[in-house]
Amino acid sequence: MMLPPCSILKDMFESGYAEDGTGGKIPLHSNISRQHARVLYEMVRRHKPAVCVEIGMCLGISALSILTALHENANGGRLISIDPLQTDPAHEKGIGLLNVKRAGLDGLHTLIEKKSYEALPALLADGLQVDFGYIDGWHSFDYALLDFFYLDKMLSVPGIVGFNDCGWRCVHKVLKFVQRYRLYREMDVGIAPSYKASNHLFSLIKRIEGRISNDRYFQKLEDWEPEGGFYTHF
Ligand SMILES: C[S@@+](CC[C@H](N)C(=O)[O-])C[C@H]1O[C@@H](n2cnc3c(N)ncnc32)[C@H](O)[C@@H]1O
Repeated sequence: MMLPPCSILKDMFESGYAEDGTGGKIPLHSNISRQHARVLYEMVRRHKPAVCVEIGMCLGISALSILTALHENANGGRLISIDPLQTDPAHEKGIGLLNVKRAGLDGLHTLIEKKSYEALPALLADGLQVDFGYIDGWHSFDYALLDFFYLDKMLSVPGIVGFNDCGWRCVHKVLKFVQRYRLYREMDVGIAPSYKASNHLFSLIKRIEGRISNDRYFQKLEDWEPEGGFYTHF
């Protein structure tokens, strides 16, 4: 699968490393795949969002995919990344930010170095409208649900929200919430569903449960919420 046209992304995927500010090499980790980077880039190219928010920046693979597309869109679009550990010396050491700068895309980018459950309510209170969200932060059900809950409140119609690690039970449960408690349409992003797992049995279970491993994208159809007291199993 072709990568987004960004030399920094190409270097990282080809070498398997990211460079820190002193020429040191850090093995790539936690990043979205080459295929998911391409899909993310294409989604932003196609839908031309003005404001994108990603949760979980790490070494900057998803950020560079979005920013490369925003740069090519040339319509003033910008990206806000939320990640509490970006410049932490024990974690990413600012490498994600450095990569964005190396790619010359820092003019379109802002980092909020906070936990998403702190940053998102503040953005909502500021009245931010979001057109495109990408959720790849802390993946436990409660955190990922809050990420979606707040993004949904800021998302324009027909804004888009994408999820990474959809095959994980905790994320899959959030996707059920999206489909049962809000009005969204799943988008066809042109990749065949994968149920890849560590063995055949786990793969079969994933298939039965509909737990697709691919990134999944949902388009908001309406600003709609159920009545208070509504409950449905999800
Ligand atoms: C799977 S990685 C993100 C990878 C990134 N999207 C990429 O493609 O390179 C998850 C990131 O979420 C961040 N994270 C952890 N807790 C978080 C929280 N409460 N809010 C937002 N981000 C968080 C971590 O610091 C980590 O960088």
